[in-house]
Amino acid sequence: MCSPFFSGSPRIGGGGPPAGYNKPIMPLLEVQDLTKQFPITRSTGPFTRVTDQVRAVDGVDLTLEAGETLGLVGESGCGKSTLGRCLLRLIEPTGGSVTFEGGDFLALRPEPLRRTRREMQIVFQDPFASLNPRMSVGAILEEPLRVHEIVPAKEVRAEVARLLDQVGLPRTAAARFPHEFSGGQRQRVGIARALSLRPKLIIADEPVSALDVSIRAQILNLFRQVQADTNVALLFVAHDLGAVRQISHRVAVMYLGKIVETAPADALYDDPRHPYTRALLAAVPSVDGTRALSQKVEGDVPSPIDIPSGCRFRTRCPFAQEICAQKEPALAPFAGGPAAHLSACHFAAMLPTLETNTAPM
Ligand SMILES: Nc1ncnc2c1ncn2[C@@H]1O[C@H](COP(=O)(O)OP(=O)(O)OP(=O)(O)O)[C@@H](O)[C@H]1O
Ligand code: SF4
Ligand SMILES: [Mg+2]
Repeated sequence: MCSPFFSGSPRIGGGGPPAGYNKPIMPLLEVQDLTKQFPITRSTGPFTRVTDQVRAVDGVDLTLEAGETLGLVGESGCGKSTLGRCLLRLIEPTGGSVTFEGGDFLALRPEPLRRTRREMQIVFQDPFASLNPRMSVGAILEEPLRVHEIVPAKEVRAEVARLLDQVGLPRTAAARFPHEFSGGQRQRVGIARALSLRPKLIIADEPVSALDVSIRAQILNLFRQVQADTNVALLFVAHDLGAVRQISHRVAVMYLGKIVETAPADALYDDPRHPYTRALLAAVPSVDGTRALSQKVEGDVPSPIDIPSGCRFRTRCPFAQEICAQKEPALAPFAGGPAAHLSACHFAAMLPTLETNTAPM
């Protein structure tokens, strides 16, 4: 069934920014067509063969400027953590390119990789799991300072004190161990450790998801303050759409391994131009007034082993048409929209006025 709104010719594909777009000379991070596949193997007797591939990251493009926060949202399993790990080469991507400060990050050999990677740090959801329980906080913060010779040896203690000040912990925290702290305080230690190497980029993978709602705002404020102080860029991964809006300059929405919409935060929340983003934002508000992805979008997420043809969202999309099964929409500006607002939907330009289909394709 075709809605009357589909009688005109939709914008299909068309990559790259339109004329007049002031492209920065060199973003801090530029990611193009990044992929990560995990092989699925089966053993028969002594032989093991690859039977399939999990396409966890399936052609991601994004950029990040110094001092900018890009929020990354999407349902569980869409590839957010895999993307973050690939960006740091904690796991090696299968394909694509990652340019950091203009250099080919994926081509770096071990020693230059080690030097460059210290400028790209990660903060995890569960700081407890990432902090050595047998080391005092002082020792945890001293270690990277000494290994990477960030300050002269005689200044290491003073630098630890400065880092504790920066993340709002008392200097006496240096003598204590991770288990003596609350979740929020441990996350402050995790942030201090990331900051110890004076990074230009921090990938924060759900850094507030495990914290009490009352503590989340404090940690979000800390990230904001740290960014104001250091001009660090943040890739902020979260399920909590409220938290993402608060902290992000721009937001990217990921679905089944790919970015399907990206825009300045206000534009994305006020005028979403991808049906998946609309569905996420329509989720019931949580008790604290923010919106979380706990309320699932209708229908099951297809397997990343067998991604639908054409538009990967079509099996759940209430606006899907024939073309959606045939042609994959490019992530691109839509007709009449601002250059910075990109959507991977054939019908992004007319989305606000579309009628829904009863039977998604
Ligand atoms: N080592 C691995 N081997 C095989 N599949 C993997 C591996 N790591 C991740 N995957 C798969 O890749 C997909 C993306 O996983 P990932 O953890 O990146 O998602 P996510 O968006 O971070 O989810 P969550 O919000 O639950 O943290 C999932 O289908 C997951 O099962
Ligand atoms: S299925 Fe079609 S209408 Fe729905 S998001 Fe994809 S391209 Fe857009
Ligand atoms: Mg994850």
